[in-house]
Amino acid sequence: MESLKSEFPIFANAEKEGRTFIYFDSASSTQKPQSVIDAITEYYGGYYANVGRGLYWPATQASNEYAKARDKVRNFVGAKSAKEVIFTSGTTDAINKVANAVLLPTLEADDQVLVSEMEHHSNFVPWQQACIQKGADLKVIPLTTAHTIDLAALKATLNSKVKFVAITAVSNTLGTKNDIKIIVRLAHAVGALVLVDASQLTLSERIDVQKLDCDFLTFSAHKLFGPTGIGILYGKQALLERAIPFSYGGGMVALVNQDETTFADLPAKHEAGTPNIAGAIGLGAAIDFVESIGVAQIAKHNAALRTYTVHLLNQIEGVNLLAEDAGDASILSFTMEGIHPHDIATFLAEKGIAVRAGHHCTQPLLKSMGLPATVRLSFSVYNDQREIEQLKTALEEIKSFFG
Ligand SMILES: Cc1ncc(COP(=O)(O)O)c(C=O)c1O
Repeated sequence: MESLKSEFPIFANAEKEGRTFIYFDSASSTQKPQSVIDAITEYYGGYYANVGRGLYWPATQASNEYAKARDKVRNFVGAKSAKEVIFTSGTTDAINKVANAVLLPTLEADDQVLVSEMEHHSNFVPWQQACIQKGADLKVIPLTTAHTIDLAALKATLNSKVKFVAITAVSNTLGTKNDIKIIVRLAHAVGALVLVDASQLTLSERIDVQKLDCDFLTFSAHKLFGPTGIGILYGKQALLERAIPFSYGGGMVALVNQDETTFADLPAKHEAGTPNIAGAIGLGAAIDFVESIGVAQIAKHNAALRTYTVHLLNQIEGVNLLAEDAGDASILSFTMEGIHPHDIATFLAEKGIAVRAGHHCTQPLLKSMGLPATVRLSFSVYNDQREIEQLKTALEEIKSFFG
């Protein structure tokens, strides 16, 4: 894993400029390897054209690369068909699309939608607003003391009025992991559909949508070494076929006349307008990068760094680690007695150490834990033990600085 850092040009560039740059914010967005940057540059500089229409060589090459990227995603998540892979602008966009095009048209007053207490705002607010619009009930499933979804509470809440369950696989604040397979089975037993927010799962375990049996699953490329502005929505083919189009316009139609329009087959039906071609190609290259290392290997590396961090930070009196035992996670949140998380992040930033402080877009979770904010560390393939030792030294300095 040591050698992987050299594949990410930002670190060598920082060093050339004499800057320290230790990046512990990969849960927010990962850095980009040269291969992803090159794939995007090659498209713009080597065969740039729009997809799906032109018959000349850059157009056919761009269309082929765009299709190849979709197939890489299909393989990455274990979908049956590339028709089940819809490109979106990211997780947030995908969730809004499912809430508006799948849930909203059939949601009625007194129906119920379930989310959990640990959801990112992106997997909370769209469902909350859909419920408000239709007078339906949003139920928030609490967590166990181990900070995972309380399956007993979930079971007790599920009933035939529940239309939809939207849950994250991994908490972006604590790193804890939910048992998606069981949750899907329980939800299906009452006839509810399930969307899995896999934003933090992609580098934690091999995703297999067929084994999970989830109805929808989404993630953003930028947390997976890929570019911003692109993500995917996996949906079971029958559900995507049944859904009204996510938006209307060019590229998603079969036949248009003055009175009516028939729509294209999947996946085009849900991808109106010129897509993010460079983004899709960049995502394809990011998947190649991940596959060349292996998700299991990446997860093992990240989990080992987290374990080492737990070990070192526990040596500092006043540091309170949250969900310390979340075994194979790559995320670790903590607080320090008497020092505000923002002061810690500011102090670390001055030393070139990048961490996150705040609510991490999970205000309901932090409220339930009685915390205004945490400091969040998240690890990736370019981090190593030496960096964690530097972090420890910096935290000790902060402690003595604040007395
Ligand atoms: C669990 C989770 N869900 C959703 C999102 C939103 O992702 P995006 O901003 O890429 O749409 C994030 C991003 O931090 C996340 O961690």
